Amino acid sequence: MKKIEAVIKPHKIEDVRSALASLGILGLTAWEVRGFGRQKGHQELYRGSEYQVNFMPKVRLEIVVTDDRVPDVVKAITESAQTGTIGDGKIFVLNVEQAVRIRTGEKDEEAL
Ligand SMILES: Nc1ncnc2c1ncn2[C@@H]1O[C@H](COP(=O)(O)OP(=O)(O)OP(=O)(O)O)[C@@H](O)[C@H]1O
Ligand SMILES: [Mg+2]
Repeated sequence: MKKIEAVIKPHKIEDVRSALASLGILGLTAWEVRGFGRQKGHQELYRGSEYQVNFMPKVRLEIVVTDDRVPDVVKAITESAQTGTIGDGKIFVLNVEQAVRIRTGEKDEEAL
């Protein structure tokens, strides 16, 4: 199993949710976060010399899937979250050791 973590622009959340629903993704977690990438928010001159870092509002998604679904999920997020402008976000893929459905005690792939 893998966990796909994606940071996206907030206004793209509905497009991404719908793209993932089309793939049959049954569960995900999303929350509002703040972050910055290599432009550091805007990258403006601050008091003449320093660069100010501005945290930008983003949405962070977390989706755990079986390994075979990773390429489709990454593609769906990339295509649905892309505007082509800076700050479109990033996707990270991590290994997951175990999953448990609390209601039933089912484990791993059965629990997703
Ligand atoms: N290396 C990183 N680790 C963790 N979070 C990151 C990292 N890079 C970016 N992020 C998160 O993703 C958000 C969007 O990043 P962003 O798309 O601006 O990356 P970028 O590398 O600056 O690319 P671009 O040039 O397209 O803007 C950031 O606000 C931050 O929350
Ligand atoms: Mg950036």
